[in-house]
Amino acid sequence: MFVDNVKLLNFRNYEYGKVAFNPGANFIYGSNASGKTNVIESIYLAATTKSHRFSKDKEMIMYDKESSKISVSFNSSNRLNRSDIILNNSKKKQLFKNGVPITKSSEMLGFLNVVLFCPDDLRLIKGSPRERRRMIDMGICQLRASYFNALINYNHILEQKNNLLKINPESDQIWIWNHKLCEYGGYISYIRQNYIKNINKYAQAYHSSICKERLHILYNSGIGSISEELTREEFTSYMEKEIEKNTDREIKNKLSIIGPHRDDFTAFLDDKEAKIYGSQGQQRTISICLKLAEVDIIKIDKRESPVLLLDDALGELDSKRQQFVLKNFDNIQTIITGTKQLELENIKNINMIKVEDIHVHSFG
Ligand SMILES: Nc1ncnc2c1ncn2[C@@H]1O[C@H](COP(=O)(O)OP(=O)(O)OP(=O)(O)O)[C@@H](O)[C@H]1O
Ligand SMILES: [Mg+2]
Repeated sequence: MFVDNVKLLNFRNYEYGKVAFNPGANFIYGSNASGKTNVIESIYLAATTKSHRFSKDKEMIMYDKESSKISVSFNSSNRLNRSDIILNNSKKKQLFKNGVPITKSSEMLGFLNVVLFCPDDLRLIKGSPRERRRMIDMGICQLRASYFNALINYNHILEQKNNLLKINPESDQIWIWNHKLCEYGGYISYIRQNYIKNINKYAQAYHSSICKERLHILYNSGIGSISEELTREEFTSYMEKEIEKNTDREIKNKLSIIGPHRDDFTAFLDDKEAKIYGSQGQQRTISICLKLAEVDIIKIDKRESPVLLLDDALGELDSKRQQFVLKNFDNIQTIITGTKQLELENIKNINMIKVEDIHVHSFG
């Protein structure tokens, strides 16, 4: 799939913003703070309904404006589609698929598929488990609306259970929450286990083509130390047993300590944990391979390539790794940002976009 054009109204520093893209490589260039990442963010938002910068809706609306509109027209299976989002200061955001209003964010996911590369990707190795869970979740949510809904339900129940653990930990009600928690928790764990298995498979292959060390990505379940693959039902009953075993600890800590909200994954290079022993370059290479694996998974599942958003991601790489990334992006739409044009001499037919030209006076 590829983005055909983007229109922005009162979005960040764009009062009116308009840009057309090529199906191949596109490079948005301009000075710092000129609005390059804002364009990437708008496309990511149209695809996922969320900002990749963790920004709140209000923060993306141009200062002193009441609302903002983002329209992304894209080609998918040879059809032109449009994803519109209206961000509002004083009410919930509104979502539209080809002009038809939709009420649930989950219905928007998977309509436009994107994979984002940015300098922050290093945090997939160095950052907190929460950041790694977010990467996995964003990857899976674009493929399965049922997973997105399960996550919302799980988090809602978890919050209820934690509240009860604080107010009345001995209440029988806890077991009603636990039962529901394990049902969703089993499903989430099962899907994550399989997703990470696939990520491992593809990332390993990419990694071995540029490095001699063997990469291995391991799923660490927040339910317990599980060494074999489990079915969904097995995860659910394992979680029920572990919660039962840890009831006293949960009551003492007034917190749910068992469940996929404690999930993580670990990257190993030749069986040494990359977070602890890996160099900056090795960690960056792993994070690139994780992203390339995400692209493959979407491609296979959707039978169509996602759109790749590379925000300042190439400048951080040495030329060998730049070549490696670009070589793997043939036949896929890429929207790249950067302040300088150095790294792009190897891309053919690149559409050069000056960020100043995106700022227009009207859509007329
Ligand atoms: N809500 C908002 N309203 C108006 N302007 C905003 C808003 N949020 C951010 N900005 C402006 O957007 C600009 C930053 O845009 P962006 O992050 O896209 O820059 P960039 O071109 O990617 O820069 P860099 O090269 O430093 O990454 C800043 O000038 C900032 O003040
Ligand atoms: Mg930027």
